[in-house]
Amino acid sequence: MDFPRKDLFDRLERFYDAVPRDAARPEEHGALVLFAREGAGWPFYARPRLDATAPPSLADVTAVRERQRELGLPEALEWVHETTPDLLAVARSAGLSVLEAPLMVLDPAALPDPATLTDVPLRVLDPAEPDFAADVAARRAVAAVGFSTAGTERGEAGPAQRDAAVAELDEAALDEERARVADGRRLSALAGTPTEGALASGMAMRVGDVAEIAGVATLPAARRRGLGAAVTAALARELLAAGTDLVFLAAGSEDIARVYLRVGFRRVGTACIAEPAPVTP
Ligand SMILES: CC(C)(COP(=O)(O)OP(=O)(O)OC[C@H]1O[C@@H](n2cnc3c(N)ncnc32)[C@H](O)[C@@H]1OP(=O)(O)O)[C@@H](O)C(=O)NCCC(=O)NCCS
Repeated sequence: MDFPRKDLFDRLERFYDAVPRDAARPEEHGALVLFAREGAGWPFYARPRLDATAPPSLADVTAVRERQRELGLPEALEWVHETTPDLLAVARSAGLSVLEAPLMVLDPAALPDPATLTDVPLRVLDPAEPDFAADVAARRAVAAVGFSTAGTERGEAGPAQRDAAVAELDEAALDEERARVADGRRLSALAGTPTEGALASGMAMRVGDVAEIAGVATLPAARRRGLGAAVTAALARELLAAGTDLVFLAAGSEDIARVYLRVGFRRVGTACIAEPAPVTP
């Protein structure tokens, strides 16, 4: 993981700028670019424009937020602190609340064999398999239940809540997922047993030789058994085998970062994720 820092952060910038472009329309607002998703799916974010010559201003942030509201999109703004350090103060002065997430890069030499982390079977989803649609639905349901109980503690919600959260996917969304997996832009993994079904899930987005692991989630009732680490390791291993040499992620908190540290990710910086501050009564 011996990337020169400038090279590393440039590659991350290009990645963040490229990922939304096959599903969203970029709109420039000063030194920011807003990715407005077309159709259903994750709504994306606004972020610093790749070729901007000045840091984003308060006026740029205000303009983007107005546009996001107009389009019915969340007022989400994301950037890498080391690349755009001035934006933190600007975003806060705009009233946004900023999550400073540990930005971590995989040291391939430190990646354990996923099978050493758990006895629960791990699977990378394959569009050629007859169960692909059910697997995608299970991955989404596990993520929905997992993310609804934040943090790393165990909780009550388990397979019953997952089953209740399964939503049928429309054909267009499934075709999009199939195409992305088939050409290597998307990777998904599940951990689960035949009796309990899917217990943990995660995915990765890939552009060329750079990939981000995201959406790792374990059902609260199945936490603290090594599944989050194992799913992450399975995704990382598959990405490396496919020729990706820069695998990274943004951990939601310092506690969550420990899970990734154990599978070979090392902190290189801070990913800032801003949204409107909750209104206090
Ligand atoms: C983050 C998350 C995916 C971790 O999942 P998990 O399956 O519990 O992860 P692991 O079991 O690998 O590790 C969690 C803890 O269990 C411990 N653990 C792992 N195997 C264990 C075992 N066999 N016995 C006891 N403890 C164990 C780990 O050491 C770790 O402890 P720590 O918190 O003291 O560092 C899960 O908590 C979650 O879904 N959170 C909500 C969604 C979220 O925020 N996702 C991350 C987005 S970046």
